[in-house]
Amino acid sequence: MTEIRVAVVGTGVIGRTHIDTLKTVPGMVLTAVVDPSPASKDLAAGLQIRHFTTVDDLLSAKIADAVVVASPNDTHVPIGCQLLEAGLPILLEKPVANSLAESAQLAAAAAKTGMPVLVGHHRRHNPLIKAAKRALEDGAIGPLVMATVTCAVLKPDDYFDVAWRTDPEQGGPLLINAIHDIDLLRHFFGEVAAVQGSASNAVRGLPVEDTTAAILTFEKAGLATIALSDAAVGPWAWELSSGENPGRFPKHDAITHIYAGRQGGLSLPDLSHWTHGPGGNWYHALKHGTVPFTQTDTYIAQMEHFGQIVRGKAEPLVTCTDGIRNMEVVVAIKQSSKTGRAIQIADLADSNGAAR
Ligand SMILES: NC(=O)c1ccc[n+]([C@@H]2O[C@H](COP(=O)([O-])OP(=O)(O)OC[C@H]3O[C@@H](n4cnc5c(N)ncnc54)[C@H](O)[C@@H]3O)[C@@H](O)[C@H]2O)c1
Repeated sequence: MTEIRVAVVGTGVIGRTHIDTLKTVPGMVLTAVVDPSPASKDLAAGLQIRHFTTVDDLLSAKIADAVVVASPNDTHVPIGCQLLEAGLPILLEKPVANSLAESAQLAAAAAKTGMPVLVGHHRRHNPLIKAAKRALEDGAIGPLVMATVTCAVLKPDDYFDVAWRTDPEQGGPLLINAIHDIDLLRHFFGEVAAVQGSASNAVRGLPVEDTTAAILTFEKAGLATIALSDAAVGPWAWELSSGENPGRFPKHDAITHIYAGRQGGLSLPDLSHWTHGPGGNWYHALKHGTVPFTQTDTYIAQMEHFGQIVRGKAEPLVTCTDGIRNMEVVVAIKQSSKTGRAIQIADLADSNGAAR
């Protein structure tokens, strides 16, 4: 395969980011978009590529070697399974499914067909995250003890005019935003054993939560908290501080993730590193440094990685199983909020028939 022909399904906010990204990745070419909206027809005409309203039509045309699925959440499993069955690798946006039970169908299709699924937790492709992961693995802060993650953003009211964003099964900042933070916490700490959460829709009064606080207990060791709102002003959110998507969000000088270990601390996205000298404790001044890294475009890195997967030269960095595990944590936080009880992730997965 000299050039990988890629189709993008869903040309909304993130679909357009993928379309723009594809223009810059050597060896990959956008050949088609699939979207029932009239606007997407004009988009395709402007890009001089094919336009389809259904995945069936895309498959009949045989003009794609790989597909990016960026349509609403409730389409991820039916469209994802259809593409895998047709022998096409997919870059599937998060969350992988609309429910945990449904996510098992996707895992089964991936296992049956052997086709790769890369889940769009793009942050893992950020060199900043790779540098943080290396620092943690190299023992820069010793065994992880705790973390705290903040996501405070003020979304405009018309953001919620798109129906799926206020559907409790599909929308809400836990599924839209915090699932990426959960993916990073799992990346650094390992699997989550239990969660306790409290979610509220008191500010906007929509059917989806606007504000949530949660405590995560990890299987190996460590505790983390997440405080999240899409109805509160603050630069303390990955989207507003990492500079990852400059086309959509301004970058602010703010810390959003704090990781504290037995021998030091690390904050993100500034990669500040704090340590005591030997025998030091809270009575002694800490030493401060910064973990070095070189910033490159995260979405380009993700797409280049997808290209490597399609060529059989790499395994997905973020797997279907990762996508499901992240969803489990979100579902558990929501359940805990309703019941007031801590939720064990293993119990939740069993009761929902999710793949384990
Ligand atoms: N990784 C990220 O950074 C990121 C960011 C935003 C959204 N997302 C995810 O991407 C997905 C899309 O989010 P969005 O904000 O771009 O949504 P959006 O509403 O802006 O766009 C969705 C698009 O999909 C189209 N669509 C609807 N049904 C379709 C179908 N059956 N087949 C093909 N196209 C269809 C719509 O017409 C629309 O153009 C969601 O799952 C969301 O969670 C990921």
